[in-house]
Amino acid sequence: MKAEQLTWSSPIVTQADRERQNGHRGLVLWFTGLSGAGKSTLAVECERYLHRQGIRTYVLDGDNIRHGLNSDLSFTDADRKENIRRIGEVAKLMADAGLVTIVSFISPFRADRDIVRHSLGEGRFLEIYVRCPLAVCERRDPKGLYQKARAGSLTSFTGIDAPYEEPLQPELAINTDQVDVEQAVRRIIQYLDLHESLK
Ligand code: PPS
Repeated sequence: MKAEQLTWSSPIVTQADRERQNGHRGLVLWFTGLSGAGKSTLAVECERYLHRQGIRTYVLDGDNIRHGLNSDLSFTDADRKENIRRIGEVAKLMADAGLVTIVSFISPFRADRDIVRHSLGEGRFLEIYVRCPLAVCERRDPKGLYQKARAGSLTSFTGIDAPYEEPLQPELAINTDQVDVEQAVRRIIQYLDLHESLK
């Protein structure tokens, strides 16, 4: 359907109204990094902390979303792009709903992440680079996927035979081979406090 055949209907209750009711802003914490870097762990621990503080949160996780909404997508470059486009749209809706939306996807392409950044607008998209050397991720190999990729039974695996483009200017980079989960969550919360991201 062509866009000119559609009419945008304006809501009566706005994002600002919802944010006032929630007592905080809606925004997106976007975790990006290699498989095994620790994105999902940090995402759920971050949510646990924020939830306890009375913040309204939701986690969107790559593995989980690929079971439902994005179950039709593979790991080709084009499908990864579509994966991130859809999740960017969902995250934007959730931020509009007033939620602190925590997104945990490899999201390997800089351009795709930047599209989401621009669509959300300054201050509502915080890119958190969950940084970990490939060798360490490979040693951790929690799902045995690196082993399969090295053996050639799994192809187009990020870091092995598919690219990962590091963020150039993330709001935050966390070296998960150097800090533990508790320290990492503390750094994220400190960032949110310092920049008054939730205000
Ligand atoms: S992407 O690149 O953003 O579209 O990937 P994402 O949706 O985050 O899905 C990553 C999880 O899928 C599993 N998996 C793979 N990852 C990378 N490359 C290939 N080929 C692949 N096949 C399956 C893997 O469990 C990823 O989860 P994480 O949590 O990142 O380890």
